[in-house]
Amino acid sequence: MVKVAPSILAADFGNLKSEINLIESSECDYIHCDIMDGHFVPNISFGPDIIKQIRKMTNKVLDVHLMIKPVLPYIKNFADAGSDIITFHIEEENDPEKIISEIKKYNIKTGVALKPATPLRSIENIIDIVDLVLIMTVEPGFGGQSFMDNQISKICELKELVIQRSLNIEIEVDGGIDELTGKQCIKAGANVLVAGTYIFNNEGNKYAQKILSLR
Ligand code: DX5
Ligand code: ZN
Repeated sequence: MVKVAPSILAADFGNLKSEINLIESSECDYIHCDIMDGHFVPNISFGPDIIKQIRKMTNKVLDVHLMIKPVLPYIKNFADAGSDIITFHIEEENDPEKIISEIKKYNIKTGVALKPATPLRSIENIIDIVDLVLIMTVEPGFGGQSFMDNQISKICELKELVIQRSLNIEIEVDGGIDELTGKQCIKAGANVLVAGTYIFNNEGNKYAQKILSLR
């Protein structure tokens, strides 16, 4: 079954509670939270205090995507705030095992993310010890960008690797996902679709309907 993870980066932060309520009553699986530091990516979003507030508003799985550098000193904050999954980027990380064991210490699922230009071989040594791999289908930093279809082959390659090694991991895609690009990703092997603009930016707030259309 394909899972859907609305990215609240595209939500109306002035009405966060009612936005979360709409998502809560929908058939989505995760709530994707994009953490940006203005350093690892050229944009700033929000931090653990907002995650803590969101935690109080929902029982959905909080899927926290860290686009920050460094990662290690902040894991405790995000764990304490109520994250269920913490995903970090492999780029520029020289000791990913340390980050993974720190996340696992809090009994939280661990994900590793790859920017579009990052090859799959960069996670070959750690793929057996993570729960999720996130393939970015846009350059991280901003919502509302166009899907990069040259990432489809990476999703296929990852799916093959998962089958070859009989791994029990999720394949998540993030960036420019809509009804059409989502289907392409599912066909290639993805089972978690992150979508921000497609779900939140529509007239009449038809979030639940948009979420169903992605499966
Ligand atoms: C981009 C973020 C995405 C973003 C997706 O850096 O990781 O999660 O919010 O937004 P859309 O679906 O609008 O591309
Ligand atoms: Zn994201």
